[in-house]
Parts: sequence; C-alpha cells; structure tokens
Amino acid sequence: MPSVLITGANRGLGLEHTRQYLTKGWEVLACCRTPSQAEELNTLADEYMSLEIYELDVIDHDAIEQLATLLAGRKIDVLLNNAGILGADLTQGLQHQTLSDMSYEIWRELLEVNVLAPFKMISEFQQHVASSDMKIILMMSSSLGSISGNTVGGVHGYRTTKASLNMLTKGLAAELEPSGITIFSMAPGWCKTDMGTDLADVEVTHSVAGQQRVISEIQFSDSGSWFDYNGDLLSW
Ligand SMILES: NC(=O)c1ccc[n+]([C@@H]2O[C@H](COP(=O)([O-])OP(=O)(O)OC[C@H]3O[C@@H](n4cnc5c(N)ncnc54)[C@H](OP(=O)(O)O)[C@@H]3O)[C@@H](O)[C@H]2O)c1
Repeated sequence: MPSVLITGANRGLGLEHTRQYLTKGWEVLACCRTPSQAEELNTLADEYMSLEIYELDVIDHDAIEQLATLLAGRKIDVLLNNAGILGADLTQGLQHQTLSDMSYEIWRELLEVNVLAPFKMISEFQQHVASSDMKIILMMSSSLGSISGNTVGGVHGYRTTKASLNMLTKGLAAELEPSGITIFSMAPGWCKTDMGTDLADVEVTHSVAGQQRVISEIQFSDSGSWFDYNGDLLSW
C-alpha cells in the first residue's frame, strides 16, 4: 500500500487528507504539534492500524531531523507539506499585513512555518520519497501566492510566503529531477477550515478529494508546476 507523510494533520486540510487516504487503504504518517490533543487523529488511530501519529512542530529543525532518522529506510510515496499559517484571523480582517500596519514578528513566523519548514522537510525526507514508487512532493500553496493574480495588494506576509513556496517548487523540481521526484504546488481553493472560516466557498472534503485525484494523475513531466484542486494548471 502507498504511504503519505502529512504535516499539520490534526485539523483542516491535513486531517481530511488523513481521513481520505486511510479510507483508500494508504499508510498515513500523520504529523502534528500535540498528538495528545489531536482527538480526531487518535479516534482514527483506534479504527485504522495503518495510521501512525508523530509529534512534529515544523519550525523545529532538530525535530525534523530526528523524525527523518526515526523513519530511515521507510518509503514515503507522497510528502504532503501541508502545515501552514495565515498569520491573521480572517473573521477579524487581515490585520497586521499591510503597508501601514505590519507585524514583522508575524511575518517572520510566517516565513518559518510556510517556507523554511517545507524546505527543511524536503531536505530531510528526499531519500524516503526517492526510494518510493510514486516519488511525489506536494507543496500546499494558495492562490494568494500568485504574482500575476495580485492586483489588489495587502496580505503581504502570507502572500510572500506562498509566492516563495512556489519558487521553491520550481527550483527544487530541477534539483530533484535526477532523483525522479515530482514536486508541484497546489492551490486548494478557499476552504472551510479554521483558517478559511465558514465564509469560504469550498468544502474541505471536496477540495481534498480533488487534490488526491491530482496527486494520483500527476506525471513526472508536471514537476515544477502549479495546479488547483480541480487539476487545472495555474500560472505563477
Ligand atoms: N483553508 C484555506 O482556504 C486555504 C487556502 C489556501 C491555502 N491553504 C493552505 O492549506 C494548508 C492547510 O490550511 P488549513 O486551512 O487546513 O489550515 P488550519 O485549519 O488552520 O490548519 C493548519 C494546520 O497547520 C498546522 N500548523 C501550523 N503551524 C504549525 C507548526 N509550526 N508545526 C506543525 N504544524 C503546524 C496546524 O497545527 P496546530 O493545530 O498545532 O495549530 C494545523 O494542523 C496551509 O498551508 C494553508 O496555507 C488553505
């Protein structure tokens, strides 16, 4: 059975990916910051032997290295770099990320979680992925990271991190090519999660089903590209 490692698997899109892959019979290595409080994951673990839960704060590089060592020799078909933060509460408006009101503390945290962490995950887990059958890395991006689509400004902290993530997708595609790894960015749509809030227009189950279809159909020649959850190719 194929295996997937998911960061930020305790809620939102990560949790739904966990659920849907378990239903498909996949082995799921679900990472989260506080396993003891991850109630839904623990309930799923009671039902599925193929679910393993690992503690991982993705800004902790030592912890990433330790997990990679613990899992040395394990094949990981799909590395799903999902954990991310918006740095704001959408229901309160996107405060502290504008020209007149910027929190540099929040911006630094955004960079740590949304950019440096996925890079570190890839640097530590590339062998696990390269030794698998599918050899896929998904970078959970956002349409807010589109440069061509940014016509209104604002949300600079989050936008720059997702644009950076997309740049990593493009650059790492070239570096990972000899390993046979396919890496691509995903725009999941505006989803009803804690981050997206109930104002969002896409159901989490629908987005994740679409994303998993894209993962199952992705080709090596697609490496370094950006797709939405419907499988449509996006421009940067
Ligand atoms: N929802 C949307 O509309 C939307 C749209 C575009 C892109 N995205 C992207 O999709 C991804 C998932 O978003 P979501 O909507 O599912 O958000 P969410 O419901 O807020 O969940 C975020 C997940 O990331 C985890 N996380 C945050 N910081 C972490 C850290 N330092 N270490 C480990 N895990 C950490 C959270 O864990 P804790 O529970 O411990 O905080 C949680 O599991 C993100 O990359 C986001 O940018 C979402």
